[in-house]
Amino acid sequence: MKIIGGIPLKGTVKTQGAKNAALTVMPVCLLLRGGILTLDNVPDLYDINTMIEILRDLGVEVEINRELKDPQMIFKVPDEIKWEVSETLARKMRGSSLLLGPLLASCGQISLPLPGGCSIGARPIDLHLKGLKQMGAEIDVQNGVVHAKVKGRLRGRRIYLDFPSVGATENLMMAASLAQGETILENIAREPEIDNLADVLRSIGVPVELEGTGGVRIQGVDKVHSGRERVIPDRIEACTYILAGVMTNGHIKVEDVVPRHIDAILAKLEESGAKFKVKKNTVETFPSKKRLHPISIKTLPYPGFPTDAQPQMAAALSLGQGVSTIEESVFQARFLYAQELNRMGADIKIARDVAVIRGVQKLQGAPVRATDLRAGAALIMAGLAAEGETTVDDMVHVWRGYEAIDKKLTSLGAQVELI
Ligand code: UD1
Repeated sequence: MKIIGGIPLKGTVKTQGAKNAALTVMPVCLLLRGGILTLDNVPDLYDINTMIEILRDLGVEVEINRELKDPQMIFKVPDEIKWEVSETLARKMRGSSLLLGPLLASCGQISLPLPGGCSIGARPIDLHLKGLKQMGAEIDVQNGVVHAKVKGRLRGRRIYLDFPSVGATENLMMAASLAQGETILENIAREPEIDNLADVLRSIGVPVELEGTGGVRIQGVDKVHSGRERVIPDRIEACTYILAGVMTNGHIKVEDVVPRHIDAILAKLEESGAKFKVKKNTVETFPSKKRLHPISIKTLPYPGFPTDAQPQMAAALSLGQGVSTIEESVFQARFLYAQELNRMGADIKIARDVAVIRGVQKLQGAPVRATDLRAGAALIMAGLAAEGETTVDDMVHVWRGYEAIDKKLTSLGAQVELI
């Protein structure tokens, strides 16, 4: 993507459906046999298309209605589906690990090549496997492929997660839906995507009770029925645009936002002195003559500051005043973008898990490379705020998570072009 920077963004942009929520709730259809799952507000992204390919390969019929205001997908599931996931497709994204729970619960066995995804540190699935074993699955990992099977049905039980992993929580919730008896998961992730999953499971007839203290209670059922639910708005995409508005000194309104989903980010933006207004479903940014004040951030599981907004926040703080710090506590290798931002004149030093960001007056355009999805977003934002021309290479990462980012930015007055 070629970007001519220095233009304050102006206008209104609508948030897409959440990538991570959609990737989680699409595999729910595997729990249905001879039923239909309808999902509204599904974004058009590489990872979503990979999930569609995987589901189709397993035998699910997927109908896509993109012309609707809330793009819709209908998953028609036959009585019999395949339980072997294609290696080429599984390795394309981390999200393929979300097939484990529903496919195992539905078919009694699964063969899943270990998933790929962003290079942001080791991403084991030991917690997913440990939980499924506790529910009675026999699991064997050989030559990079997970083979799991269960005699009869999975068995509901009390499971404590050693870390509130988002993926493990989601997999176990889906597995528990068709298990025998009640499952109580403790120390679970409480990201908004988990609430969305709970709503989808309820829509197909699974009693799910989320508890405020980080637990969930699920009554396993013999059979689920057809259902329908809307995918929540993408909080990370929304924040990327909000931060782009702040960074370019722009006046933009981001629509279809759930403000309480991005409380941590808004709190940190407020602390840094950014000018913005929050309404029921929108966030509006305003130009400011002052640079952002230095702040300290630590990424944490929800409701803490999300790791997925960390690179974008670093880009914004690189144009701030004084020295800000960001500590990454969720993933190990999430600072690869720093050397790319530094090519544009940023001053970021990495000391183990902490990025020390010394604010600079201006950034200059440069050729840079997206090292992963959110790094790519951060570099695009930096390019929008920088003087001169920036080219962001390896855009393939960005297309995994940002629908029509070129068109959305153009509609906000940015000068961007796909090469
Ligand atoms: C999901 C999101 C990702 C986001 C992350 C944290 C999707 C498709 N991806 O990823 O965008 O950055 O939540 O909000 O929804 N871990 C283990 N063992 C496990 C599972 C996780 O050690 O079995 C570790 C991971 O290596 C990582 C941490 O736990 O350090 C968080 O991972 P997790 O919450 O599972 O993230 P994902 O579900 O992979």
